Amino acid sequence: METRYQSDVLIVGSGAAGLALALHLADSTQVTVLSKDEVRGGSTNRAQGGVAAVTDGNDSFDSHIADTIAAGGGLCDQAVVEEVVRRGPSAIDRIVAQGLAFDGEDGRPHLTREGGHTRRRVLHVADHTGRAIATTLIEHASRHPNIRILAGRVAIDVITAARLGSRRNRALGAYAFNRHTGQVEVFEAPSVALATGGASKVYLYTSNPDGATGDGIAMAWRAGCRVANMEFNQFHPTCLHHPEARSFLISEAVRGEGGRLLLPDGTPFMQRFDPRGELASRDVVARAIDHEMKRLGAPCVHLDISHKPAAAIEAHFPTILEACLKVGIDMRREPIPVVPAAHYTCGGVMVDVGGRTDLPGLYAIGEVASTGLHGANRLASNSLLECLVLAETAADDIRRQRRRPAEVMWAPDWDESRVTDSDEQVVLAHNWTELRRFMWDYVGIVRTDKRLARASRRIELLKREIHEYYANHRVSADLIELRNLVQVAALIVKCATMRRESRGLHYTLDHPHTSPIARPSIVPPVSDDPLDVLQPARRVAAGRRPPASVGPHALG
Ligand code: FAD
Ligand code: SIN
Repeated sequence: METRYQSDVLIVGSGAAGLALALHLADSTQVTVLSKDEVRGGSTNRAQGGVAAVTDGNDSFDSHIADTIAAGGGLCDQAVVEEVVRRGPSAIDRIVAQGLAFDGEDGRPHLTREGGHTRRRVLHVADHTGRAIATTLIEHASRHPNIRILAGRVAIDVITAARLGSRRNRALGAYAFNRHTGQVEVFEAPSVALATGGASKVYLYTSNPDGATGDGIAMAWRAGCRVANMEFNQFHPTCLHHPEARSFLISEAVRGEGGRLLLPDGTPFMQRFDPRGELASRDVVARAIDHEMKRLGAPCVHLDISHKPAAAIEAHFPTILEACLKVGIDMRREPIPVVPAAHYTCGGVMVDVGGRTDLPGLYAIGEVASTGLHGANRLASNSLLECLVLAETAADDIRRQRRRPAEVMWAPDWDESRVTDSDEQVVLAHNWTELRRFMWDYVGIVRTDKRLARASRRIELLKREIHEYYANHRVSADLIELRNLVQVAALIVKCATMRRESRGLHYTLDHPHTSPIARPSIVPPVSDDPLDVLQPARRVAAGRRPPASVGPHALG
């Protein structure tokens, strides 16, 4: 059975970012795409509202740029915002040329509105834009002769030259666990792109799929890359509150089309918090809801669009209508009970506008990355835009840089000779739940120094326990994810503790002011805590020939 694969570019992740990148490269390059579960298992497939881009004569780049920067709380990188916004229309044209049909009439797209946007500029396919994008990209990628898509492969770590003893560090590929065979496979490639999505699964309640465990962030961090702005976790204000449909998203477009937020007694409340009301930026709306729920001891608030014509609701929100009807709520006639839930990771692996990380040959694009576009709070529907645009800029860079490394290095096989089968799965299940619960309770929408310190102490304990388990047992998908999740939690708490102010999505009662100078929180990869980096290469023989083996002990 094949356990070693070579290609020009290895892409970890088959969401909008990964597949768009693959399609940009494939005409001149052999590409392998890995997906940890089914090919459409990422957040992309769930995206509802749409893609923000300037496509209308009444809109302008300046306005989209200004809205993005206003939402970003002083931390956006202006040059990156400009680049992404200006490249938006051509990214849209490209996916339309690939066959995606956005809603509209006579060649004019219907544009919806979402919080923080001063204009209607969100292109959409009813309320299942992500599914339509995924379908288009998968159709093209799976037919392309130069693209090999392998599902059920959970990448474990980036293989780096430094870990194999070279002084000229670069990415050489990745190890991945094959869920079907239980084996660890070696993927060698001179360029590796992480497109693994976000980390919102670190919270107990989230709109994200199960796989959003921040794997790419943790992998890049272990490979020696800087990570930034991890404290900016975006909580979507409106997820369905129902025991049988936990955290199903109710799109912001519902508010964009006139939906009102109401207290349990039917009173509107958003105007008390922001003159933009329901269409204030997401951080403001989520905090207002959290405040009102805590003040009243209410389990949820309500989102009401029942005053709009039923036909309009049916046409624009068929997915949401169906999900609500399944649990007995008819949004055409009654309000929807909603609560905030973790939704988007604004920080991530530090990259430039070409997706380049600190490690030569390693790229990060999509939600895994911190480009500077989102700053302290992402503007709604800018994420899919970023995926599509960065796929193009990263592809340009990969094509420019692509050459075989001067020094030929062999990635050794994975060694499991010193580990045993996992004997206490309960450790994984327990730690998984414990971590996500205290992250929700202590590192959620409203933070304090004390809560962060509590979370930090617990993370240290869990890290030790999980590391020990990882070092002694055969890897499994759950173990790989838990190891990453605890690392990401540590990075979030580290960034949150460094920030002695409230800004954007990071709000702390102990430092409620916003400093006049905005600074990103950057965590350098070097750590004095051995559990952070779990120094891998020391036990691997240096040199050009493949060392006998490498495995959990060696790779950390
Ligand atoms: P994803 O689409 O999440 O894909 C990640 C990929 O990486 C998956 O294929 C996964 O299998 C793979 N992967 C992860 N870890 C590993 C590993 N270790 N090994 C191998 N493969 C791995 N944004 C908008 O702009 N507009 C919207 O309307 C919108 N609506 C949203 C609605 C919901 C419910 C959610 C959850 C998000 C929404 N977002 C929206 C955000 C947006 O969908 C995501 O940020 C975006 O799709 C991320 O794309 P991506 O390609 O970076 O990652
Ligand atoms: C939504 O439809 O509300 C999600 C939009 C986004 O996350 O950008």
